Amino acid sequence: MALVYHADRRIAAMVLAKLKDDGGVAPAAQLADGFYQRLRKEVLPRDLDFLHMFGRRPIGTKGPCVENDMPLEHELIEIALQRLKRNGFVAEDAYFSAEATHQLAQEVGYRDFHFLYYLGLYAEHEIGAGVLELLKQKGIIASSAAYSSEAFERLRQEVKAHFEIPDTAMSPVMERLLYLLSSVKQPRRTIGIGIFCGNTLVWNAGASCNGGKVYEAENVYGIDIDAQAICLAKQNFGRLTDVDHVEFIAEDGRLAADRLAGPFDYIYLDADSEVNGKGIYLELLQRLYPKLSPGGWVVAHDTTLPAFRHQLDDYLHFVRDRRNFTESICLDVDIFGLELSIK
Ligand SMILES: C[S@@+](CC[C@H](N)C(=O)[O-])C[C@H]1O[C@@H](n2cnc3c(N)ncnc32)[C@H](O)[C@@H]1O
Repeated sequence: MALVYHADRRIAAMVLAKLKDDGGVAPAAQLADGFYQRLRKEVLPRDLDFLHMFGRRPIGTKGPCVENDMPLEHELIEIALQRLKRNGFVAEDAYFSAEATHQLAQEVGYRDFHFLYYLGLYAEHEIGAGVLELLKQKGIIASSAAYSSEAFERLRQEVKAHFEIPDTAMSPVMERLLYLLSSVKQPRRTIGIGIFCGNTLVWNAGASCNGGKVYEAENVYGIDIDAQAICLAKQNFGRLTDVDHVEFIAEDGRLAADRLAGPFDYIYLDADSEVNGKGIYLELLQRLYPKLSPGGWVVAHDTTLPAFRHQLDDYLHFVRDRRNFTESICLDVDIFGLELSIK
């Protein structure tokens, strides 16, 4: 079975070699060709669903839960593989290596889930540079576009020192990626919805704030339905300087999207609705779409996490439709992923 990582094969190969040195993946593990849009189908569901079938209770079911490290019958594995292939979750050539010294969790799960984790850990700078290069190749940003890694590191130190963050899904590489994107786009007016304690908004707005500041922005709106989360976000941003243009609003993002006047040139989506989970992204975007300037960017978090994939199908379909957006790119830099769509 092969690894698929498409963002930058050079970086992926470097990380793979390191994992082989550490004994983390089988010596025979390889990188396979793939496309961004295929990644979600090809890699993450493949391994997580596989593990769920054997080692974990599938999300939302009450069936018996087999212990994670229970030895697995080869025959059962083959049956599951066939089923996954039929469902289109697994590449046709996927196979399980019975010779592997590790258990299935390491042999299959480690390879992709942990691969993405280690990718961010070992290659944060390279991934940043790789994404910049990709955006240049696609003509989305100027060939001279750059971001300041020093300004980003200053901001990171400040956030580390001053922010109270109860919990977060932000990985270090995602922090850098969000900072980098807003740095090169330099939006005048940004709206972020589902910003929780401000820990995600700070990377989206960081290029116009405090130690990370590289340009002047007009407005940044940070919206969350949870008033306590907004209170904490205000406290957190209150410990930074140059944040007068950042306004926090405790409100349902759908109402705020209807009420606030456009235009916006940068939209950050991270809400997780109690009713339809990440399905709310499409509702939010459809309300904001007429207010998004031509050439404006929409950045959506969590778009490759298997747990959300069905909730996000309609959203991804909408943004990948060329009638709605000129380009939409899956930035598979960690297990959560980011979809960047350009109007
Ligand atoms: C999972 S959190 C985002 C956290 C972020 N991914 C991180 O790693 O720190 C989702 C947020 O969406 C907010 N939310 C849920 N429904 C919302 C809505 N209708 N409008 C605005 N925010 C909403 C929740 O209150 C929560 O703070």
